[in-house]
Amino acid sequence: MTKQQPLIQVKNLHLYFGSFHALKNVSVDFNAGELIGLVGDNGAGKTTLIRVLCGIHAPTKGQVFFDGKKVERFHPKLAIDQGIETIQQSVGLCDNLSIARNFYLGREPVKRVFGIPFLDLGKMRAKSSRIIRQFGLRENVSADDEVEMLSGGERQSIKIGRAVEFKNRVVIMDEPTNHLSVREREHVNELAVQLKEQGLLVIYITHDIFQVHKLADRIVIMENGEKVADANTDSMSAEALEDVIRQGGRMVEKREAV
Ligand SMILES: Nc1ncnc2c1ncn2[C@@H]1O[C@H](COP(=O)(O)OP(=O)(O)O)[C@@H](O)[C@H]1O
Ligand SMILES: [Mg+2]
Repeated sequence: MTKQQPLIQVKNLHLYFGSFHALKNVSVDFNAGELIGLVGDNGAGKTTLIRVLCGIHAPTKGQVFFDGKKVERFHPKLAIDQGIETIQQSVGLCDNLSIARNFYLGREPVKRVFGIPFLDLGKMRAKSSRIIRQFGLRENVSADDEVEMLSGGERQSIKIGRAVEFKNRVVIMDEPTNHLSVREREHVNELAVQLKEQGLLVIYITHDIFQVHKLADRIVIMENGEKVADANTDSMSAEALEDVIRQGGRMVEKREAV
């Protein structure tokens, strides 16, 4: 197997919030077609790390590369430029708009009638119906219904369907199943695997190693702003990785060279 160029490379990254050292010399590679569990307790620095990848925070020191090309400027449009969609539990949809409108939020298709632009509602409705059905919305829900009436899992389906439709390359799921029922949690987890199988890089953030170990190809553990483990799931059990966390995470498992 030839070694592929990582889609994202993080090298010796440091980030300070004032005098607080939030990310400490973090280096990690993320590959296309990989589902990575980014695991750690509250406050470990998981969200902060992905905010750097999305351009929300600029690192104090260190570099980030996309397709081997160094990021020179961190700005909030970096995520869109690089095809990154972030899925969080509660944000990203407008409750009082229809499913179709939410699907196209910020990317509304326009048709011109005698040169005058109109929202192409027909296209929005048809296309979003097809995609959301594919990602598991109930048969009796229509694209014209407001998002307000959807369950947590169904809301996640819309965001995930959107990520696929708009040709994103990276989907970051930050604690995507908090407050979901067991059945909905399984649904979201299945979607994460589907996205990876379509060749996307999926970074799945959670504090529950047992939940993500079943899905992930690789687990990266963070603790107090440091990466403390990075191991393929077929070479390290969830129990062994949990021990690493319990022991204060001193061990950094070297990944096998390919
Ligand atoms: N904008 C910020 N300003 C100051 N401190 C922050 C900011 N964002 C996060 N932190 C701190 O950085 C640490 C890591 O936070 P975070 O990345 O959200 O952790 P996690 O997502 O792993 O729970 C926490 O101690 C948090 O309080
Ligand atoms: Mg977080």
